[in-house]
Amino acid sequence: MRISVIGTGYLGAVHAVGMAELGHTVVGVDVDEAKIAALGAGQAPIFERGLDELLQKHAKTGLVRFTTDFAEAAGADVHFICVGTPQRGDGLAADMTYVDMAVDTLAPYLARPCLVVGKSTVPVGTAQRLANRLTKIAPASSDVELAWNPEFLREGFAVEDTLRPDRLVFGVSSEHAEATLREVYADVITAGSPVVVTDLPTSELVKVSANAFLATKISFINAISEICEITGADVTHLADAIGYDDRIGRKFLNAGLGFGGGCLPKDIRAFMARAGELGAPHALTFLSEIDAINLRRRERVAEIAREVLDGKLVGRRIAVLGAAFKPDSDDVRDSPALNVAGRLQLQGAHVAVFDPKAMDNARKVFPTLEYAASAIDACSRADLILHLTEWKQFRELDPVELAGVVSSRNVVDARNCLDADAWKSAGWTYRGLGRP
Ligand SMILES: NC(=O)c1ccc[n+]([C@@H]2O[C@H](COP(=O)([O-])OP(=O)(O)OC[C@H]3O[C@@H](n4cnc5c(N)ncnc54)[C@H](O)[C@@H]3O)[C@@H](O)[C@H]2O)c1
Repeated sequence: MRISVIGTGYLGAVHAVGMAELGHTVVGVDVDEAKIAALGAGQAPIFERGLDELLQKHAKTGLVRFTTDFAEAAGADVHFICVGTPQRGDGLAADMTYVDMAVDTLAPYLARPCLVVGKSTVPVGTAQRLANRLTKIAPASSDVELAWNPEFLREGFAVEDTLRPDRLVFGVSSEHAEATLREVYADVITAGSPVVVTDLPTSELVKVSANAFLATKISFINAISEICEITGADVTHLADAIGYDDRIGRKFLNAGLGFGGGCLPKDIRAFMARAGELGAPHALTFLSEIDAINLRRRERVAEIAREVLDGKLVGRRIAVLGAAFKPDSDDVRDSPALNVAGRLQLQGAHVAVFDPKAMDNARKVFPTLEYAASAIDACSRADLILHLTEWKQFRELDPVELAGVVSSRNVVDARNCLDADAWKSAGWTYRGLGRP
């Protein structure tokens, strides 16, 4: 099939090459010229495992190309809308400017029968609003329909999740739309991914509900972790024990610095705002507590850092391991690690940050922090090491080797995943979160 992907960021770039990998002929369209130039040259503008390889492969097969010219999308059978829906500057709601603009710019080119498919995460009701809008602004001769196919990929596993998703959700208004989406994903469905076919509003709500649930699970264990800290209990043992119950499950029960990134925080806020607009202001108020618990983690880690350094931060050297909001990604949007780094610097500490992939993005957001060339460099002469993003290479650091470069052997493991015993036996004062 001929496919266009409008918006080639973390979601769209992967979706475009993913569609090519499924054998479709794809054009990726974005307003960001630098991004399009990089993608066109076979270089991913983001770090995502496997993306470069697929880009280079399909630059050769010719199945995918990238452009800033919407006219090149005109011939596609299916148009995926993958642009951003960030938090609006004036409040909690999602900023729909980019989605609306993408649809408005695309519409005049839709002169032949086609399906426009939203993938961005949007407030419920958006799909129907856009369907009405398309009917008004697409050429009268066209036969355009709209569907919603929310995306559940995880950054760090985005290629895998695109090609082998754990489920596909099709929000459709006709059998024809469903049949078209089944054709797009034929290989994925044959390989076993289940499909949930539903209406437009349900498909929009599936995505935000999934994110609200995941955020709730993380904040739940972090709230319990606050109690563990006071009582001397160990939240990691507690999570193991409750996680054995398969009604609960162990995933997303790691207490620590909490969630961040370009999705969960803004999605739960937008969901609350939408509930208010829909006349159900109380339905989701619990999410504001989920948000508050999560934000408290950042404050708590900064507080522990202060405690470890006897309340004296001015002039103290702190090594921050991690800048990305999660490992295996270079995404620093609403990064808990950078938030903590920034707080400590503002209180007078000298903060040196290292991240395996997110240095350039971090520098753009926090240019005043010091960025080290390696984890060892960041730790050199440090009074305290903060482990804030759980990259594998940080978990594998040798506490004995590090002991030789720091000023004082203090480590705060804000992701509770270093080998505490190994660090302690190398002479370190080890602090986890919610652990004795
Ligand atoms: N990143 C994820 O892990 C993920 C997962 C699932 C869903 N989502 C959702 O997908 C959407 C996109 O997220 P993202 O992380 O890829 O954002 P992003 O900021 O990385 O990418 C958005 C892209 O859209 C482009 N764009 C903006 N306006 C445009 C326009 N009018 N025409 C063409 N391109 C335009 C931007 O230049 C940018 O490249 C959001 O709604 C997000 O919530 C993201």
